[in-house]
Amino acid sequence: MVEVKVPATSANIGPGFDSFGLAFNIYNSYKFTIDHNDNFKVLIKDKNNRNYTIPDDKNLIIKTANYLQNVSIPEIDLNKVKIKVRLNYPLDRGLGSSSNAIIGTIMGLNILFNLRLTELEILNLALKIEGHPDNIVPTLLGGFTISGIEDNNVNYEKFLINDNFDFLLFIPDFKTNTKKARELISKNILINDAVKNIKNASLLSAGLIQGNLDLIDKGKEDYLHQNQRIKLNHKLEKIFNILNNKIEIPMFLSGSGPTLLLINDQKFEQEEEIILKYAKKYKISNTIVKTNGNNKGIIINKVGD
Ligand code: HSE
Repeated sequence: MVEVKVPATSANIGPGFDSFGLAFNIYNSYKFTIDHNDNFKVLIKDKNNRNYTIPDDKNLIIKTANYLQNVSIPEIDLNKVKIKVRLNYPLDRGLGSSSNAIIGTIMGLNILFNLRLTELEILNLALKIEGHPDNIVPTLLGGFTISGIEDNNVNYEKFLINDNFDFLLFIPDFKTNTKKARELISKNILINDAVKNIKNASLLSAGLIQGNLDLIDKGKEDYLHQNQRIKLNHKLEKIFNILNNKIEIPMFLSGSGPTLLLINDQKFEQEEEIILKYAKKYKISNTIVKTNGNNKGIIINKVGD
């Protein structure tokens, strides 16, 4: 049996649109076995051990496994493969759950069938399914990552997230559609806005690596995507704007939302109270998760062979 534990991630972090990613210490688990008495099967449970159903045509684990077998690596025989999944955070909320499923599946099959895929091969395969690299890189490697696409290859650097930081994830109980959220982004960028984003992204990355919250705060504004995307959902816009006024630490839309990511260099007692107060006022049911940076990335456990 092979178990891969795959971290949740956050992409963009304000001005780092389509480039920055962060991994957290929250893991989904994927257990791969060969069962000679059964056919290919994916069984998913949520963190309360309840069955979780995803239609086959929307299931990225199935899509990724089929892609590997049909397009890429025909020596894989999926027929007897059984994958048991444990989800430990909500899907489609801007926490890299698509990359999680894709990277988890590629890595599990890589180990199960001894495919010896390199790090870059895994990332490039994932890119073909996911489309952008900013979640897939920290999903595999952990850390604070800066990535892009050059000549159809994922191009990336990993830095360690300074352990000065704690992260709070405010996860609303509704979904945003990444495709729609991407369509909202203006195709024409003013040069002044691009310049401000370059300055802010540089300050923010220095802050994340050095453990300097002040630098993150100075670099937190984005001029490319975040303000347009928040308007995708009326409740999200309301709570984002009010929290931006009431809370003094840096806050970002995680990926294309709706999760909000807060970064702090101390515990979140006061902020959590404020968030809960306004979530209640605007009737946004939610989950709050407090976590820390994950510099390890994917974890692999092989049992019984
Ligand atoms: N960078 C991507 C976006 C991440 O913001 O659309 C979401 O997958």
